[in-house]
Amino acid sequence: MSYRLATIPGDGIGPEVTREAMKCLDVALGRVGLKVDRHEYGLGKDHYLRTGEPISEGILEELRGFDAIFLGAVGHPDVKPGILEKGLLLRLRFEFDQYINLRPVKLYPGVATPLRDKRPEDIDFVVVRENTECLYTGVGGILKQGAPDEVAQQTAIYTRKGTERCVRWAFELARSRPEKRLALVDKANVLTYGHGLWRRVFEEVGQEYPDVARDAYYVDACCMLMVEAPEKLDTVVTCNMFGDIITDLGASVQGGIGIAASGNINPEGVSMFEPVHGSAPPFAGKNVVNPLAAILAGAMMARYMGSADESPAEALGREKAAKLIETAVESVLGAGRIPDLSVHSGLGTDQIGDMIAEAITEASA
Ligand code: NAD
Ligand code: IPM
Ligand code: MN
Repeated sequence: MSYRLATIPGDGIGPEVTREAMKCLDVALGRVGLKVDRHEYGLGKDHYLRTGEPISEGILEELRGFDAIFLGAVGHPDVKPGILEKGLLLRLRFEFDQYINLRPVKLYPGVATPLRDKRPEDIDFVVVRENTECLYTGVGGILKQGAPDEVAQQTAIYTRKGTERCVRWAFELARSRPEKRLALVDKANVLTYGHGLWRRVFEEVGQEYPDVARDAYYVDACCMLMVEAPEKLDTVVTCNMFGDIITDLGASVQGGIGIAASGNINPEGVSMFEPVHGSAPPFAGKNVVNPLAAILAGAMMARYMGSADESPAEALGREKAAKLIETAVESVLGAGRIPDLSVHSGLGTDQIGDMIAEAITEASA
């Protein structure tokens, strides 16, 4: 069968990395007898400047009909910060209730981490970031703007439903991993109301998962742990704001933002996959950025995208395709063929995409 995929290449380096991700996805799906029908949406800076809106109700409605969405990156210096980020990216996450933001932190063999003495077996955890609440809801406002007694308020929202569904999904994920260990990362010593709720929900839901070991870390201490002892982490669950921050740190410890992938998942609806990085405008069109983050987001998409009319064999095929991509990335990196994940690798974005596509073709299925 063929899955229906919407792509939003977006701004800056978005189109370049999306192209390589789709190249690898097509090869991997082809190897297991699956394919995607793609429809590209030209959203982003140009669309906004032309139409005055980041996305129309009509397009939002259309997107509901897809099995998944792939997004390159949005944001551009020609547009005031926040308009595209909130109006397009966050709008999609909220509109489709993609309440899980899954961000693996994995040091692949052959990749240099800034952490001295840490090896691939030490850095291999996943962050489950709540993706619809916290400081991101846009609740707040400004009073007396510009006046000396100006007041700005930005309110964090946590609901029992929103917290519980995220925590439960994280427990399920932790249970599926060999270590069976879930850490809650919060600031419950200060955010006694909001993160007090997180702690209570974590303990309550945890009773249903006696086979999963529970840890809890304050977010400041977690940052230290991520640098000094990342081997203590396996599955991490955290709120939206802290998840945003610690996953950039995570990207850094796994060798750079050029390899950090992200999935905005609605387990019951339409999910959206993207690299963690943004549109990096200074590098747009230069063929120097690393497409591995987008390629690995494509693998995550193969694993998690849903379709009501697929067979169990097709679902297994998707998982196989995801593994083919991940194994290809591992073998190319392990062979030392991409010495540097930054813009200074000396390799073209397309060359790296070709290397991975070739490794997928050559791998034994
Ligand atoms: P950025 O992630 O775009 O770039 C920061 C730096 O990271 C770059 O200068 C570059 O050195 C490096 N980098 C990024 N992608 C890379 C890649 N694929 N390979 C190698 N190196 C890479 O962050 P920024 O400069 O803070 O933001 C630029 C724009 O992107 C802003 O408008 C911001 O709001 C937006 N943004 C969008 C998303 C998204 O669409 N998901 C995420 C973050 C930022
Ligand atoms: C990310 C980005 C977004 C976020 C921005 C661009 C809205 O930083 O995907 O991590 O804060 O979630
Ligand atoms: Mn971020």
